[in-house]
Amino acid sequence: MALMQRMPIEGLAPAIEDDRGSGFRAVLKRIPSPRHVFEVGCNGGLWSTVHLLDLCPEASIDIAEILPDRAAEAAEKFAAKERVRVHNIDAVEFRPKFKIDLLILDVQTGLIGYAFEELLPALTPLLTQDAGVFLYIVYDLEAAFGDDVGEYEGVAEFIPRYFGATVLDIDIVRRRMKPEGFETLALVDRNMLERGRGYGWTYMVRG
Ligand SMILES: C[S@@+](CC[C@H](N)C(=O)[O-])C[C@H]1O[C@@H](n2cnc3c(N)ncnc32)[C@H](O)[C@@H]1O
Repeated sequence: MALMQRMPIEGLAPAIEDDRGSGFRAVLKRIPSPRHVFEVGCNGGLWSTVHLLDLCPEASIDIAEILPDRAAEAAEKFAAKERVRVHNIDAVEFRPKFKIDLLILDVQTGLIGYAFEELLPALTPLLTQDAGVFLYIVYDLEAAFGDDVGEYEGVAEFIPRYFGATVLDIDIVRRRMKPEGFETLALVDRNMLERGRGYGWTYMVRG
């Protein structure tokens, strides 16, 4: 990813502005344009793929989707886009002939811990030395779930265990991810039109 930085990104906070209210899009506008993107999880592509297609005209995009019906739906949706390939596989089975320079881990909320603790280490050997990684995160448990975590017990257990807090800021995420080999550059809200819900994205680079 030796292309020019588009805008400063360092330390982006959840409340950054974006014309479409997408934290993912706000960060994507500020990072070098990727060549080989690997997205894990495609439920219609609304959260990530559409923005990649719009903002990264030269990127080729491989998507892993474990559920056959969702993979088939995504393959049909993006059939006209030659640079998008949908694989109906578990992401850990992906064996590309190239190195990935942008990884997007967008598995469902209940699997956020799995994404940090298992998927990220498993996929890191596929990345370029200066690759970027987006990881879906819950950065404020109470804002996201209120008093009742319901079916999200797994992530409610994971966030304080892994990060040592239930409300995360970029410095907390940065300190935790540094020993894992990642420099955190942004922690943004996932859907900024409905602020304060506690669901976000973290963006990090290797290093
Ligand atoms: C939140 S959705 C993805 C949303 C998508 N990025 C979008 O823009 O619409 C999560 C998806 O991840 C898929 N998934 C979960 N674990 C996976 C794995 N190990 N490999 C591939 N797909 C996975 C689920 O089946 C689900 O469809």
